Amino acid sequence: MKKHLQDIVRYQTKVDRNKYDIFLGQNERNTYLPDEVFDNFLASIEQTDIFQYPDLDRLQLKIANLYNVDKDNLIITPGSDNGIKTIFETFEVQGKNIITTDYCFPMYKVYSNLFKTAINTVEYKSMRLDVDDVINAINSDTQFIILANPNSPLGDYQSNDNIKKLLDTGIHIIIDEAYIESTDKESCVPLINEYSNLTVLRTFSKAYGAAGMRVGSLISSKENITDYFSKVRAMYPISSLGVRYIEFILKHHSFFLNYFDKLKTGKKNLVEILQGQGVELIDTDACWMFVKRTQNDKDLFEELNNQLIHVRVNTLPGQQGDWIKLNYEPILENYDFNFS
Ligand SMILES: Cc1ncc(COP(=O)(O)O)c(C=O)c1O
Repeated sequence: MKKHLQDIVRYQTKVDRNKYDIFLGQNERNTYLPDEVFDNFLASIEQTDIFQYPDLDRLQLKIANLYNVDKDNLIITPGSDNGIKTIFETFEVQGKNIITTDYCFPMYKVYSNLFKTAINTVEYKSMRLDVDDVINAINSDTQFIILANPNSPLGDYQSNDNIKKLLDTGIHIIIDEAYIESTDKESCVPLINEYSNLTVLRTFSKAYGAAGMRVGSLISSKENITDYFSKVRAMYPISSLGVRYIEFILKHHSFFLNYFDKLKTGKKNLVEILQGQGVELIDTDACWMFVKRTQNDKDLFEELNNQLIHVRVNTLPGQQGDWIKLNYEPILENYDFNFS
């Protein structure tokens, strides 16, 4: 077996979810669908979904329409996590380097270790990334740059003009848009028609609220998909239930678009309410904010815990102390944030 695997450390979330009413620690949906909506999904399931291999062709076309690309511009992946792995499997990374940021989705580092690639880490000096720092990190061994946009956990967003600056270096750029739907920012998917060195990852896990279904997409030029990425895909990357659920989402798309609006306006309102209470917080371009953990002699982490809300605590670049990452969820409107 591969000896280096012994040295790789994998973490599993150890928090007992059953202790909480709301679990914000993994950016999942917590707000239940109305029964009359969810029942439409249940009614669509047939026994053949279990007996037979899934029909991915039909779904691929529907997802391509959603992202306004051609069917040959994407492959379906079991979550965007697997999209990331697909990229490491496709590039000649061993002994070379890739570039990402110090604050990033942890799986970028896990796959770098698995595939024996060094990371040239770009440091966040403040809550916003400077793309020139990313460009300066490129050297002759750099295979690709991978950034989440908006970033997780910091929540800053890079404009398409900044992404074009990165693309103009000629290095392959991977943009992980896991959180794009809950922002009012532009996706960079349309740039795949201009740049053959761009690959974009999308997912149904986050704003669409389907993390348990494990459905994502890897989007790139037709040549990249046909000649490279499609070669390493699994035979049937997602289950028939995943197919059914995404078809259900797309059939009731206006319901989900409405939910995205609720996430955006709800977060804006909650920021204003908390700021009105004098709460110290940092807003982000994503659907969360950072609230200073200790304020007015109160430990807000404890306060949230007492209200059975699970959150994560972060340190932030250029900021003192600990900060609670507070993801907005419509269900939070039922809670009394007595932070002041
Ligand atoms: C930035 C980012 N990318 C990708 C993922 C993976 O999501 P999934 O595999 O569920 O699509 C996550 C999950 O937390 C994430 O935060």
